[in-house]
Amino acid sequence: MTDTTIKSVFGRRVWDSRGRPTVEVDVRLGCGATGRAIAPAGASMGSGEAVDLRDGGKAFGGLDVRRAVAAVNEEISACLIGLDADHQEEVDGAMVRLDGTPDRARLGGNAIVATSMAVLQARAAAEKLPLWLYLSGGRDIRMPLPEIQIFGGGAHAARRVDIQDFMIMCPGATSFSEALDWTAEVYLAAGALMKERGSLRGVADEGGYWPAFGSNEEILDTLVLAIERAGFKPGEDVAISLDVAASEFGRNGLYTLALGGKKYETDEWISILGGWLETYPILSIEDPLSEDDPKGFQTFTRLYGATCQIIGDDYLVTNAARVTRAAADKALTAVLIKPNQAGTITETRKALEAAKAAGLGTIVSARSGETEDVIISHLSTGWDAGQFKVGSFARSERMAKWNECLRIEEALGSRARFAGREGLVFASAIPERARGERR
Ligand code: PGA
Ligand code: ZN
Repeated sequence: MTDTTIKSVFGRRVWDSRGRPTVEVDVRLGCGATGRAIAPAGASMGSGEAVDLRDGGKAFGGLDVRRAVAAVNEEISACLIGLDADHQEEVDGAMVRLDGTPDRARLGGNAIVATSMAVLQARAAAEKLPLWLYLSGGRDIRMPLPEIQIFGGGAHAARRVDIQDFMIMCPGATSFSEALDWTAEVYLAAGALMKERGSLRGVADEGGYWPAFGSNEEILDTLVLAIERAGFKPGEDVAISLDVAASEFGRNGLYTLALGGKKYETDEWISILGGWLETYPILSIEDPLSEDDPKGFQTFTRLYGATCQIIGDDYLVTNAARVTRAAADKALTAVLIKPNQAGTITETRKALEAAKAAGLGTIVSARSGETEDVIISHLSTGWDAGQFKVGSFARSERMAKWNECLRIEEALGSRARFAGREGLVFASAIPERARGERR
């Protein structure tokens, strides 16, 4: 019998893609297997997320994590040593109880999620399996449809434009690697277009081009042009996916745009977005309304859910109970899955399972503050999420995750199946029965 007892838990401070401190954790088991993980960090966060513990004060703009690292090395380590890594739910539950707050504010969401992920990595290592294979447990899995940012905006580009992510998806590709090939061509074409116009200004937080545009529509026009210039049919080979991240500029049913300074009520804002859906080949839209506007989400899904995937991110914060409620309310068709929003691997998995049980699509996602940690590449494949969102096609904290998926696709060999268009979930595909009753 492999000894999967946790023998040591060690935290250290490392740095993320924005040059900010974050928490890395090493876990060692009785059999000698080790696991390592690093906490990512968001910028446009839902108010219901697990919160990171930051030190405040002068150093690094108050963002240091020495207290979170100390929490790993003192309380968390003392609590976990002796527990069995085979029982992830017990390990995660012990940390949640030890923290004692509803939002992980005492020990830190960063300390807890890094530890939870490191325990999972160690458990897979004890089995001598890559994590994706350990998680798949012998089931058939699909390579996810990637959503890849071409232009960054919103909170990731100093609010230069309102919409946060202007992404593409390649539903017409036949494999994950082909989807990346096509994306590389579109990214290249978009950069060349920006250069010709004299508006190439480097990249935003997730590696998408800095959005030097006068309007949100101008970006959408440019994106369609880039898809065409790269030789693809917009909407068929390559489609657009948006993350509006509307909680950043919407509150109490009022949406205030930075571009032009206009204010819109929910219904007006919905009709602006609806106009985009009619004009551009947009197949997926995330957080079109703000997190405090569930009625807006319901209206939007009723109007457009049949032809466009509607994703909840800040709205649901990877919380299983919220996912189940939103499914019953027909407020969306898919759910973004971010481990550090939920707080632990167990809670993340429960949110994913709740979404699947309700017939919703699932998209495992990175944060805007990332690192070389590629665990989400394994979660999106091993859990058969169907979709994967990492940011752009530049900067190694992003490319490391796309590249890891290439290795997984290669390892699957002839069994590799690409989710492609079927990874997307529209309202018509969700069985009434699966949504459950409104509680
Ligand atoms: P964040 O952005 O990591 O800054 O929250 C990612 C997203 O909104 O999907
Ligand atoms: Zn989002």
